[in-house]
Amino acid sequence: DETIRELAKERGRFIGTILNSEWFNDAIEPEFEEIHKTQFNVVVAENEMKFDATEPKEDEFNFEKGDKMVKYAQANGLRVRGHALAWHSQVANWVNDYKGQKEKLLAVLKNHITKVVGHWKGKIAEWDVVNEAVNDDYNADWRSTNSVWYEGIGAEFLDSAFVWAHEADPDAELCYNDYSIEWGLREGSKASFVVEQVKRWKANNIPITCVGTQTHIEIAHETTPQNVRALAKALAELGVTLNITELDIGFSKGSAGKLTEADYAKQGHLYRQFMDVFLEEPNMGEFVIWGLTDAHSWLDEQQGKTEGLLYDKQYNPKPAYDSVMASLKAH
Ligand code: G3I
Repeated sequence: DETIRELAKERGRFIGTILNSEWFNDAIEPEFEEIHKTQFNVVVAENEMKFDATEPKEDEFNFEKGDKMVKYAQANGLRVRGHALAWHSQVANWVNDYKGQKEKLLAVLKNHITKVVGHWKGKIAEWDVVNEAVNDDYNADWRSTNSVWYEGIGAEFLDSAFVWAHEADPDAELCYNDYSIEWGLREGSKASFVVEQVKRWKANNIPITCVGTQTHIEIAHETTPQNVRALAKALAELGVTLNITELDIGFSKGSAGKLTEADYAKQGHLYRQFMDVFLEEPNMGEFVIWGLTDAHSWLDEQQGKTEGLLYDKQYNPKPAYDSVMASLKAH
């Protein structure tokens, strides 16, 4: 049978999912690996390239798990998305010793970005340079609490992060990545705020090349594919690509075991719409799903949601898989 990967390749497109070394005791489960590498041409490390994983002690770097993934990707011709350099979450504990010390924090972040991006220079096609720096409020603004970077440095940490990443690997695509920006471009919305910042970055020659919309949604979020289309068009005017970086379309956990064919069909329909938008918008670069099978997903572990992916717990393709294939065949 044809695979997503084959159809993506014919169309020159990048479609992928994450891997997490912990699910497999640091080895990739054979069944997972087989599906992943035959169906996809992109891989993202779920946790292994984050700050706490790569710099657990100050200026002592650990690239072992990330290296394994890069090796797997190279052996199988997969593109690697790097995730994530400057984020308020999963920062190593030692960084908090420097809370509020602007110059020290700038030096810490610069060293981190320079060494991590430098280590994988030429091997990681694209980095999430800054992740989730905008708050959740309706009147969107920078996330000003619980962020050691913003509280200590101010918004200039974002600008600098892009500059340092670009210096460390001038060929890498550099993204701003966030959630809830698939909710649409309205006054005061997170998406609009991000577009305004992209404008400012471009005007100031900050080397941003892409935005990532995470897109962790639910079956009821029917307008989100068209919101993503509008965002792709708005960013095209600024010369910045849009990627779908963490798609999952979950059901509430209470519905587990009670889901009907119609529910799975509805999920498939939404997946199809996202894939249609991705294939129709020339300004979209990558399409990444935040997991491969419902047997391993942050939705169950942390979100009170379930079954948001293309493969079920037995590793069988779901109607959503067929919908994605149908979209590819139609484009
Ligand atoms: O590494 C420890 C391990 O040593 C320990 O035994 C284990 C026991 O709880 O925890 C392990 O750390 C966990 C880590 O995943 C690795 O499995 C953390 O507790 C857990 O919080 C962490 O969760 C990750 C989460 O980001 C953290 O914010 C999820 O796997 C990951 O899917 C999720 O991914 C994020 C993206 O990076 C950004 N966008 C949202 C997305 C979903 O939250």
